[in-house]
Amino acid sequence: MDKAKVAAEMAERMKDAEEVLKENNYDKTRLVPILQGVQAKYRWLSQDLLSYVARAVGLPPARVYGVATFYAHFTLKPKGRHVIKLCDGTACHVKGSTKLLDALRGKLGIRDGEDTSRDGLFTVDTVSCLGACGLAPVMVVDTDVHGQVKPDQVDAILNAVLEKDKNETK
Ligand code: FES
Repeated sequence: MDKAKVAAEMAERMKDAEEVLKENNYDKTRLVPILQGVQAKYRWLSQDLLSYVARAVGLPPARVYGVATFYAHFTLKPKGRHVIKLCDGTACHVKGSTKLLDALRGKLGIRDGEDTSRDGLFTVDTVSCLGACGLAPVMVVDTDVHGQVKPDQVDAILNAVLEKDKNETK
């Protein structure tokens, strides 16, 4: 592939990152909001994106990488189309979050050591207290909060998400 074509493809891929950088005036003191904005667009921060941001704001790539790995809310691995945050804080643990996790992973076929389904549709992350202990066990699917979830409700919740996807693509 010739250089011009590679550069054009790169520019196309980085279009959304460029938009975020522009909104933040390429200001290196705004690195965290820039990375948040870029992650919101791409759902994760690839090595390419981190290098691109570093170059654009004039920081060493190692510094940008350091910031991206310091904050837990940045992800350097691809996420599924839908992200499920399952609370495993004390209240949720006591109320059966482990069984819920098993049900989710079983239904989605997520293997040990992995967190994303093979079809790339769902990522399951366990998190500590979501601040809704009264609803334990709690999980958040994208932005929807589900409280007092029982393992046998997992199918219905996931199917509703897939159904919504189908309706949105019609
Ligand atoms: S422990 Fe799960 S919401 Fe607080």
